[in-house]
Amino acid sequence: MNNYITGHDIEALFAAGKRQLALAKNDRMTSIARESCERLGIQVFDGGAASRSASAPVADPSSASRPVNVFTPAEFKQAEFKPTVSSGSHDAPADYDIDAWRAQFPILKEAVHLANCSQSPQCERTRAAAEAYLDSWDHMGMDWDRWVQEVNLAKAEFARLINADPGEIGIGTSVSEITSTIASSLDFGGRRKKVVVTDAEFPTVGLVWLAHEKFGAKVQFIPAKGGEIDINDYHTAVDNETLLTSFCDVYYYNGFKQDIATITEMVHAKGSLAYLDAYQGLGSHPIDVKALDVDFLSSGNLKYLLGIPGIAFVYIKKELISHLRPAFTGWFGQENPFAFDIHHLDYAKDARRFDNGTPPVLTSYIARAGMSVINEIGPNAIQRWTDILSERCLEGARRRGLDIASPQDIRRKAPTTAIRVGPDSHAVEVALKERKIICSARGDVVRFAHHFFTKPEDIDYALDSITDVLGRR
Ligand SMILES: Cc1ncc(COP(=O)(O)O)c(C=O)c1O
Repeated sequence: MNNYITGHDIEALFAAGKRQLALAKNDRMTSIARESCERLGIQVFDGGAASRSASAPVADPSSASRPVNVFTPAEFKQAEFKPTVSSGSHDAPADYDIDAWRAQFPILKEAVHLANCSQSPQCERTRAAAEAYLDSWDHMGMDWDRWVQEVNLAKAEFARLINADPGEIGIGTSVSEITSTIASSLDFGGRRKKVVVTDAEFPTVGLVWLAHEKFGAKVQFIPAKGGEIDINDYHTAVDNETLLTSFCDVYYYNGFKQDIATITEMVHAKGSLAYLDAYQGLGSHPIDVKALDVDFLSSGNLKYLLGIPGIAFVYIKKELISHLRPAFTGWFGQENPFAFDIHHLDYAKDARRFDNGTPPVLTSYIARAGMSVINEIGPNAIQRWTDILSERCLEGARRRGLDIASPQDIRRKAPTTAIRVGPDSHAVEVALKERKIICSARGDVVRFAHHFFTKPEDIDYALDSITDVLGRR
């Protein structure tokens, strides 16, 4: 792999009193690093095929004339320098051993992974879980007792993550499916038929509510203003005809984080149910459904929960379960699926009544493994570190003159930092992938979404590289 040298590295080198740098064959400097060398008067010596500062002299560092005090990137990457300009106050998480965890994610050896708002990377534990299912299928032929047990264990791991009871968790294959199941259990025929939804929802959620207009639902959208939802707008939109308010904890587009506790309290005060789509935040910060008192919470697993597509969970508050009879159902939603009774609906007493057909088994194995990592490290610890990285990312983006589409106050921002790049954001994503940066484009932005395993230098490298790609030096 190439060894990328960022502007931050150069500042660290300068702070350590070094004024010369020898590049090896695989060393690649970002344009910001080259600029920093010029600005700080650091001479760059070409030791092979690497790029070099345009204005710097070129010498053979292996020759007898190699200057004293010359430094190689490998040396300064290993050394512990205090950079002159640093936005992060910490170099590593205080709560866990980041290097030990990073060693469990093979892709991190060769790439910077900042696509956690879209798909998190594979780790050894999730791979082993997938292999455990394949082994069981291979050796047992059919192992339903164990497979159904795995589904229940995955539900229990999800329950642990949000402080729920496992009996309050239903399972499906996507948030779309789960939202449809919940919607199909509601009665839109009474006085309360309004569903309040925000423009910050992932489209699928709004679409499901709109599809229920044919059953009497009246959908009202709260508009996003400047990439955020004004909390006062809930107060105006939710009224005594509102059956349910559907909101997310984090806006997928730019990482805007809502005050979900206040929103839940506000909508309850108007007699509305509270439906929280936690997919964009869960795993990056703590969520406690009991403290929140939310009625429903849904999430899939492929973002901060280290899972893959094909599984999603739903929490339903215990007190509500027996009052809801989903029309979107199936045999696994019945009290005894193996009664094979085709003539009677006999919903399960707990949240399993929101399950439908044969449950997602392979993805349950993987989802449980991924969530066990998050539970082991702890969402509080993850938030402490990801907030530090958010500060660094925001400040770094500001310093480089990038156009930030995310809130600039980290209390109102999840790890996602969105940089406006224009309509061809996908091309920027591809250009960054060529530099071994995995990130995610949406509309006119490219999103950098770090996680507990991200290092400060990953952020610096990504910011330097996007600045290069956008040609804004
Ligand atoms: C907040 C949010 N909800 C839902 C989804 C997608 O839901 P589904 O599982 O139906 O694909 C996403 C996907 O990116 C999302 O960010």
